[in-house]
Amino acid sequence: MNKTTSIIIPTYNEHDNITSLVQRLAKSLAGYNYEIVFVDDNSNDGTAELAESLKDKHPVSVIVRKDKRGLASAVVDGLSHAAGSIVAVMDADLQHPPEVVPSLIKAIEEGADISVASRYIEGGGCQGWSFSRKLISRGAIFLAHLLLPATRKVKDPMSGFFIFKKDVVANAQLNPAGFKILLEILMIGRFQNVTEVPFTFVTREKGESKLNARQQIDYLKHIFSLMRRTGELLRFIKFALVGGSGVFVNVGLYWLLTRFAGFTPLDDTVTGSILSGNMAIIISIETSIVTNFLLNNYYTFADRNTGGIKALIGRLLNFNLISLVGALIQIGMMNLLAVGFGLYDLFSLVIAIIIAMMWNYLLNNWWTWRR
Ligand code: GDD
Ligand code: MN
Repeated sequence: MNKTTSIIIPTYNEHDNITSLVQRLAKSLAGYNYEIVFVDDNSNDGTAELAESLKDKHPVSVIVRKDKRGLASAVVDGLSHAAGSIVAVMDADLQHPPEVVPSLIKAIEEGADISVASRYIEGGGCQGWSFSRKLISRGAIFLAHLLLPATRKVKDPMSGFFIFKKDVVANAQLNPAGFKILLEILMIGRFQNVTEVPFTFVTREKGESKLNARQQIDYLKHIFSLMRRTGELLRFIKFALVGGSGVFVNVGLYWLLTRFAGFTPLDDTVTGSILSGNMAIIISIETSIVTNFLLNNYYTFADRNTGGIKALIGRLLNFNLISLVGALIQIGMMNLLAVGFGLYDLFSLVIAIIIAMMWNYLLNNWWTWRR
């Protein structure tokens, strides 16, 4: 294969790692066409100067930026300098073993548009991670899978080690904020096939990690920004509007049934039967569930309305079940807040409704209209 792979490597104070990195890449990639693009944020340990000196023997180029603008932004800058039609991204600190790069290239040769070096598929892992670090990592992935459905194809969307055809991002407006450029590419790139290749994220031997608590806040902001830019936030707003319409259906139908169709109003059980009033409310609730379902199916989740009538009925049953549990959650929360904590009942009700709606939204997004 003659296509050139551009390997983008962001660096910040990685002087003690890059010589070994470049040598190991050279060894693994003997016979391949490749170039290494270092993007350094003005390291003060001589990283850029050392990288420059590696040019004599290796296909290396170095971009130096005068201010520290972060990992993702370094990758975006590296992209505009990449000559290859295939682009790989990896860390400079040898936590991403250079020996994995050929299997990433192979995945592209075999038809993948994106291939991710993954810690969370069979054969992958993390060396020497504490329980809490594992938990944070898993939690972050769970959140991405939950809120950004297009990332669900990948078990490790947080990986900083991956490869892709440059076409994937040809028309994409990549937002260079944050640490997680792969998320950005998975959400707004154009691609068909994405695969994963296992690797072990090894411990850092030299230099220090630049990941800190602020990046965890930035991560949440990044997820929100991607939700906004990819229409997932709009989807949630649509879902809330549909839920509001359901309240009108529910109240309106109860009113029609009890005022015009002979059902007994529930406050009038002296003259009529309590059963009749409850029938009216049950019919109203179920009708509003069905109208909510139809609106969500053809409006909120129109892009995921696949399959025939059987699939539609299956989704309706899912939706009903989730709504039922949602109602129980609402009742439970309301009791907890109002009875348990003694909060004002209407306030408790609003909070309980919001929590139940989140439940309904997330479960339906995950399951009923899965993608
Ligand atoms: N240019 C530039 N600017 N490079 C940076 C900056 C920056 O502000 N901050 C970090 N880097 C470079 C580092 O020099 C290193 O090559 C790479 O980015 C990763 O930085 P680390 O500080 O080693 O990050 P980490 O090991 O904590 O995080 C890694 O693992 C995560 C998964 O747990 C990264 O690969 C993340 O992308 C990955 O998500
Ligand atoms: Mn690292």
